[in-house]
Amino acid sequence: MERLVTSNLKLGIIAGGQLAKMLIQEASKWGIITYVLDNDGHCPAAKIASHFIQGSNLDFDCVYEFGKLVDILTFEIEHVHIDALKKLKSEGYRVAPDPEILALIQDKGIQKEFYIAHGIPCAPFTPFESAEDILRGIDEGSIRYPFVQKIRKGGYDGRGVAVIHREEDVGKLLPFPSIIEEKVNVSKEISVIASRNRKGEVKCFPCVEMVFDPDANLVDKIICPSSVSREQAEKAELFASRIIELLKLEGILAVEFFITETGEVLVNEAAPRPHNSGHTTIESIITSQFEQHLRGILNLPLGSTRLKLPSVMVNILGGPEGEGPAVYEGLTESMAIDGVKIHLYGKKMTKPYRKMGHVTILSSSVEDALRKAETVQRLIKVKPWKKN
Ligand SMILES: Nc1ncnc2c1ncn2[C@@H]1O[C@H](COP(=O)(O)OP(=O)(O)OP(=O)(O)O)[C@@H](O)[C@H]1O
Ligand SMILES: [Mg+2]
Repeated sequence: MERLVTSNLKLGIIAGGQLAKMLIQEASKWGIITYVLDNDGHCPAAKIASHFIQGSNLDFDCVYEFGKLVDILTFEIEHVHIDALKKLKSEGYRVAPDPEILALIQDKGIQKEFYIAHGIPCAPFTPFESAEDILRGIDEGSIRYPFVQKIRKGGYDGRGVAVIHREEDVGKLLPFPSIIEEKVNVSKEISVIASRNRKGEVKCFPCVEMVFDPDANLVDKIICPSSVSREQAEKAELFASRIIELLKLEGILAVEFFITETGEVLVNEAAPRPHNSGHTTIESIITSQFEQHLRGILNLPLGSTRLKLPSVMVNILGGPEGEGPAVYEGLTESMAIDGVKIHLYGKKMTKPYRKMGHVTILSSSVEDALRKAETVQRLIKVKPWKKN
């Protein structure tokens, strides 16, 4: 019989940000012993993990030695030393999702080749080794404005993405191996989180809409469920299910999509881990993305993904004033609003646009939740502490 959740199971999580913290909160409900690896002793998960190990997710020895401490190893970020994960796997340690899947997703070029090989619609792309090669492509006419450059590895929260509208923007080109994509005329961005266990059971969470803050390049609001047509939502769920099945992924996979102005559904990118777009699942859905990830990696039956109540999530971001010890304003007033659930990640220091927490607003209608979300966004501010 497999060792189940109540039998002293040791779960290792690589990196200790808010995603690890929320994963630990779920794991602790089942008495799982949690281990976290992070360079930063003050990271959000450090205090609530059963064991905190200081070390880098990008260092072979740190990851390899950490993996040997636990029964099952997972991660909350994509930037992990892959060879260390592969070595652990080759020695019989459990790593989920599989390191080969992470390797495929870590490189946006390989990820997109995979979609194209399997007939999954996405924006056409071409790989380039350097910014000089891209400039040559522009001169020769093989690249036309507007286009989007994405570095193949290491990008997150829009860092690693450059939108080049016209000639004056070429100074923004990033000097790394990258892919060039056609600029899609996006009418909406949505996300579907798919889940799968080793038995091959697959379930998707309802599709949510992601509204971006153009200044922060971060998600400003998540609307659950999204207002896309039923046909578009079904297509997105179908593609997300196909991808997770093709990858034979154990755990969860967040798939971001573009809905184009002509109504097409295109895959943008996927992440094999809990995702910012899945935070509404904590209160809005019967099973949260974090519980579902545990169910997936532990080969347990997947939980119900049925909607309990519609919701809107807003990130609590560090204000533009600068860096310093975080001081919050407007939390009490926000809590007085019906349906407001506040999550603070426990980061001591704020800096501009740092994700400090999030708020989910539950309501019987998305419209009402949106109105309340705007009030919450006006009320809550995070500022660096200053001596008077
Ligand atoms: N081909 C495209 N056409 C138009 N807009 C795009 C295109 N590719 C990306 N974008 C815009 O840039 C944003 C960031 O791109 P992408 O999701 O690939 O990068 P990322 O840094 O991995 O993002 P994150 O970590 O925020 O998910 C997208 O959400 C979208 O708004
Ligand atoms: Mg993205």
